[in-house]
Amino acid sequence: MIPKIYILDDDLSYAKLLAVNLGPAGRFRPEVFDDAEKLLDRQAEEPPDAVITDLVMPGVDGIEVTRRLRKIDPHLPIFVLTAHAEMDSAIAALKAGANEYLTKPVNMDELTTFLERALKERPMREEATSLEQARKEEFSTGAILGAHPKVEEVREFVHRVAAIPHPTVLLLGESGTGKNLAARAIHYSSPHSTGRFVEINCSALPSHLLESELFGYQKGAFTDARESKRGLVEVANGGTLFLDEVADLSVELQAKLLNFLESRRFRRLGGTEEIEVSQRLITATNSDLEQRVRSGQFRADLYYRVSVATHTLPSLREVKEDIPLLADHFRELFNREFRKETVSISPAVLEMLQRWDWPGNVRELRNAIERAMIFADGAALKPSDLPELGGLEVTTGAPEANDAFKITRGVTLAQAEKEYIRCTLADCSGSVQRAAESLGISRKSLWERRKKYKLSD
Ligand SMILES: Nc1ncnc2c1ncn2[C@@H]1O[C@H](COP(=O)(O)OP(=O)(O)OP(=O)(O)O)[C@@H](O)[C@H]1O
Ligand SMILES: [Mg+2]
Repeated sequence: MIPKIYILDDDLSYAKLLAVNLGPAGRFRPEVFDDAEKLLDRQAEEPPDAVITDLVMPGVDGIEVTRRLRKIDPHLPIFVLTAHAEMDSAIAALKAGANEYLTKPVNMDELTTFLERALKERPMREEATSLEQARKEEFSTGAILGAHPKVEEVREFVHRVAAIPHPTVLLLGESGTGKNLAARAIHYSSPHSTGRFVEINCSALPSHLLESELFGYQKGAFTDARESKRGLVEVANGGTLFLDEVADLSVELQAKLLNFLESRRFRRLGGTEEIEVSQRLITATNSDLEQRVRSGQFRADLYYRVSVATHTLPSLREVKEDIPLLADHFRELFNREFRKETVSISPAVLEMLQRWDWPGNVRELRNAIERAMIFADGAALKPSDLPELGGLEVTTGAPEANDAFKITRGVTLAQAEKEYIRCTLADCSGSVQRAAESLGISRKSLWERRKKYKLSD
């Protein structure tokens, strides 16, 4: 398809001149207009691939036309032509959404290059926007699943703090309850997030490295500092700085962080200039922060600073009613990922899931379903797909297999599986057919597992 270019100038002869000179014949299909309204009518009828417009025109001018076209089509390449004296308006046109401005007399080669590049980049821009949109949807409150009132409260909390420009938020809760998920949801659902979501785990780095990660350094600040580096505090400007496992901050860094939170200013290591930033600060921990304050491991003044808006995420035990919903969500997720055809979870499995204690909360549930889905080869998840949750107690066909099979806590799933397969094979006197039936898997997958675990016959 030859790209259709609309050219607008109140001086129609100038528009025609551009049209004639726009690259060799057949490269573009230009159409000329001397009035913005006519162009907008035509656009409604047949949208162009790009628009070139004059800036100063009676009635609707170039800026207004740009604004209106941009509203209709966020990715339409728009070029504005200006005379030298109109610099301010040229900048206004860029703000209204024009891709570029060119000064008259127009350099036709330059215009052609701009046009071609913009037309080529358009699909990429569209894709980038839809990715960003998808990220927003993936990470906003909709990602926090659960119908329990306590989960509803979490979503409500996220909504509230997301509505405030630069709140300081503390997320508490056991490991695996969704603190990272909630932090992302706050960022991605907030209309105030103009910057990035930047996450750092305070327990992952030794104190001095964490400090330079957070606050950056100036060239020459220490031996290895050959270049200056921006700290995450700067990178997150306008967005969200998420300090995970904040309880593990060293005493020195607690002092630095407090200073920073009080002034919202900081210096890079070895730097003299004070840099001012504004962003949302979210901290999270799965330890008892108040207890740490009492025992003197965490500064009380910092605790008061970071705990302005606090929420404790519920453990999975507290919201047990949501287990079937969550389990089915993860089943569906891994069903797609592993290209399986496991379309449901058997009632026996659901009962097992409800009985389990879930010390690792939603993460543990997710991992359990993921592992089960790796082994699943039927239409429904069966208890034998989740041996670590007591599925091993379920014994079947082979009469010799009736003795309870015990596994010690702490062994890996693979070790337990290997051992269970070995016992079952022994019980079935090495009959693969019977062992496979007893294990509830196909002969082929039993054979594969024997190979994997090097279980000879
Ligand atoms: N309500 C929920 N809905 C859907 N997924 C959830 C929910 N809660 C947690 N998850 C999932 O469980 C896993 C663990 O969540 P997350 O990493 O946010 O936990 P956490 O509280 O930060 O844990 P930790 O204290 O160990 O860092 C993630 O895969 C997350 O997507
Ligand atoms: Mg976490």
